[in-house]
Amino acid sequence: MSNKILFDKVDLGNGLALNNRIVMAPLTRSMADDDLVPTETMAAYYGRRADAGLIISEATIVAADGQGYPNTPGLFTDAQVNGWKGVTRRVHQNGGKMFAQLWHTGRVSHSIFHNGQPPMAPSAVEFHGRVPRFSDLEYGTPRAMTEADIERVIEDFGIAARNAKKAGFDGVEVHGANGYLIDQFLHWNTNRRDDEYGGSPEKMSRFLLRILDRISQEIDQIGIRLSPAAYIHIEHDARDKAVFNYLLEKLNNYSLAYIHSGIFADDPYDHLDGTVTQYIRRHYRGTVIASGGYDADSASEMIGRGDADLIAIGRPFIANPDYVSKVQNQQPPVAYDESMLAELV
Ligand SMILES: Cc1cc2nc3c(=O)[nH]c(=O)nc-3n(C[C@H](O)[C@H](O)[C@H](O)COP(=O)(O)O)c2cc1C
Repeated sequence: MSNKILFDKVDLGNGLALNNRIVMAPLTRSMADDDLVPTETMAAYYGRRADAGLIISEATIVAADGQGYPNTPGLFTDAQVNGWKGVTRRVHQNGGKMFAQLWHTGRVSHSIFHNGQPPMAPSAVEFHGRVPRFSDLEYGTPRAMTEADIERVIEDFGIAARNAKKAGFDGVEVHGANGYLIDQFLHWNTNRRDDEYGGSPEKMSRFLLRILDRISQEIDQIGIRLSPAAYIHIEHDARDKAVFNYLLEKLNNYSLAYIHSGIFADDPYDHLDGTVTQYIRRHYRGTVIASGGYDADSASEMIGRGDADLIAIGRPFIANPDYVSKVQNQQPPVAYDESMLAELV
C-alpha cells in the first residue's frame, strides 16, 4: 500500500497549514527537570520528529496543582516558558509545527504532589489504583472543587495558553481526555455535582466550554482531545453518551483547529455505534484526528473511508524518531517496547 493519502497537505484553518496528515500524539515521558522545565534533551527529541505534520507536546500542566506524575513539564513559570522556547525553536528550524497539550490531572494524582493535601476533582469520588513510578502509593479520595477553585483553574488554562504563545507554540490542545480533570467533569462516574457544573449534559459541559472561551482570548489555534468511551481512569455510565452528544454539537459553533480522539485502541464500542473516532465524526463537522493502535496502512484506509482527516501516532513515534520517512519510503518501523521509555531518543 502506498499510503500516499498520508502525505497530503492539510489546512487547519486560521492560517495553519500542515505538510502531511501524520500527527505525533502527545506522549508523557516524565523527563522535565525538577522545576518541571523542558530540557535540551527534550528539544533534541522533539526536533528529530519535526517532519510530522504536527507534533502535540506531552501533557503539560497548567498549574502546580495539576500535577499527577513526576517530572511532567509545566507552562506556568518563566523558566518553563523559556525551556519550551528551546523546544519550539528546534521544531520550527526543522520545518515542523507544534501544539502544547494543556493538562490538569484532577483526581488522578496523589497528595505527595500537593504538600500532603488531597488533589482536586469535580466530586470527592475515590480513585483506585497505584501511582506510576511510585508503585507503593495508592491513589485516594480527592476533595470536591469549590466554585472559587473552578474559576481559578479556568484562569490557569487561560494563562497557560498565553504562555504557550509566548513559548512559540503554534497552538494548544486542551487535554479533555483519558480521565483527567476536564474528562472527570464530562462523566457521571466522577461528576456528582448539583451546581452549575453537574447534573445535566449542559452543566457537565460548562467547565470545558468556559475553558475554551477563556483560552480563545489568548490564542487562535485550539484543538481538543476527548474520550467519550470512558476507557481509562473512569467508569462508563450509560448517561455519558448524552453528555458527549450535547458537547460535540456545541463544539460545532467554536472554530476549533480539530477534535482528537483519546483512546489506546480505536475499536468499536456498542454504546457509541462504532469507534470513538467514527462517533466524533458523526457529531462534529470540523477536522478530526483519529488515534489508537493505527499503523500507516490502517490509518490510510481509515482516512480514505472518511472517518478522520489526520492520524495521531503514539508508541511507534517513541520507537522510531524517523517514523515519517520510514512510512514515506515504505520501510518497516521498529516495534515499540516499554523499555524504550527509559530514555529520550
Ligand atoms: C508512554 C505514553 C505516554 C502517553 N502520554 C499521553 C499524554 O501525555 N497525553 C495524552 O493525551 N495521551 C497520552 N498517551 C496516549 C497516546 O497519545 C495515544 O493516544 C496512545 O498511545 C494510542 O496511540 P498509539 O497506539 O499510536 O500509541 C500516552 C501513551 C503512552 C504509551
